[in-house]
Amino acid sequence: MTAQLTITQPDDLHLHVRQGDALANVITDTARQFSRAIIMPNLITPVTQVHQAQAYRQEILDALPDDTSFHPLMTLYLTDQTSAQTIYEAKEAGIIHGLKLYPAGATTHSDAGVTRIKRIWPALEAMQTLGIPLLIHGEVTDPSVDIFDREKVFIETVLEPLLADFPALKIVLEHITTRDAVDFILQAPGHVVATLTAHHLLLNRNALFKGGIRPHLYCLPVLKRETHRQALVSAAVSGNPKFFLGTDSAPHAQHAKESACGCAGMYTAYHAMELYAEVFDEAGALDKLEDFSSTFGAKFYGLPKNTTHLTLTRKDWEIPAHLPYGKEGKDRLIPFRAGEICHWKADARS
Ligand code: DOR
Ligand code: ZN
Repeated sequence: MTAQLTITQPDDLHLHVRQGDALANVITDTARQFSRAIIMPNLITPVTQVHQAQAYRQEILDALPDDTSFHPLMTLYLTDQTSAQTIYEAKEAGIIHGLKLYPAGATTHSDAGVTRIKRIWPALEAMQTLGIPLLIHGEVTDPSVDIFDREKVFIETVLEPLLADFPALKIVLEHITTRDAVDFILQAPGHVVATLTAHHLLLNRNALFKGGIRPHLYCLPVLKRETHRQALVSAAVSGNPKFFLGTDSAPHAQHAKESACGCAGMYTAYHAMELYAEVFDEAGALDKLEDFSSTFGAKFYGLPKNTTHLTLTRKDWEIPAHLPYGKEGKDRLIPFRAGEICHWKADARS
């Protein structure tokens, strides 16, 4: 039984870090385990322009302790107004690694998202030409579609036609949750890939209702049934470079989660690699963890392989019940599986 594993420093290819005090609270957790992260642009004022991404990147760097080596990889938020010109500016700036498509209303801070894919046609043409990836929150927003079917219906009604119209566009279908998404990615061309979160690999939808309603396990896309979780695990451990790590760690204050209308998102950045190690260990595939975490995503984004390393050790430790959050740490952030035992420990943890 493997007791210790040293891997190339991983990258988180899908991450939310917010701004201000919250940013300062969470960014060190990610920087402790990851070398780089693709930073989501769904701030209260969405990051739609290059100058906003430049300012946000600086804000992230300023929030890091001086001795930390961590590289935020910025993205822009697509709206109905995003022009081809903005895409050319993004390429020119050199710090933009993807454009995020939120169907309007699909999730947290997505109201300014895209209402109809046709409206971003010129932007998509420019992205295809320049080789800039499209990062997709793949759920339809039609309220008449069952929430558990929204990813599947998105693939059928939006993504398949999109691929036909833009056959060379690089696409990341983010945080996939269904067997349908796995099957879609498997049959798609090599430049159409997917990220997988730790929480969708670890839990099925029963967890949401275990002994009562569990607001900290609510995220979007919502957890699915066990057969889907198993398909995700098979994809993650398959060694297929089309599936790689993206935590979708999404912090919200405790009071915003434990509410009559709780926010979507789980906070996994604190112990992300330890959670993924549990998944791969359980599947008897620890030898596949490094490529999934440190190779495939970097290759897709055209990034050099990291030269630093992370060591994971089989060791039980208790996940804190809560973490400081917000102004002077007065709010609380409840990490995923708070108060429970984690079976792997990263060397970066004190
Ligand atoms: O659960 C989620 N939280 N899903 C998303 O798509 C957005 C994220 C957030 O920003 O809170
Ligand atoms: Zn996300």
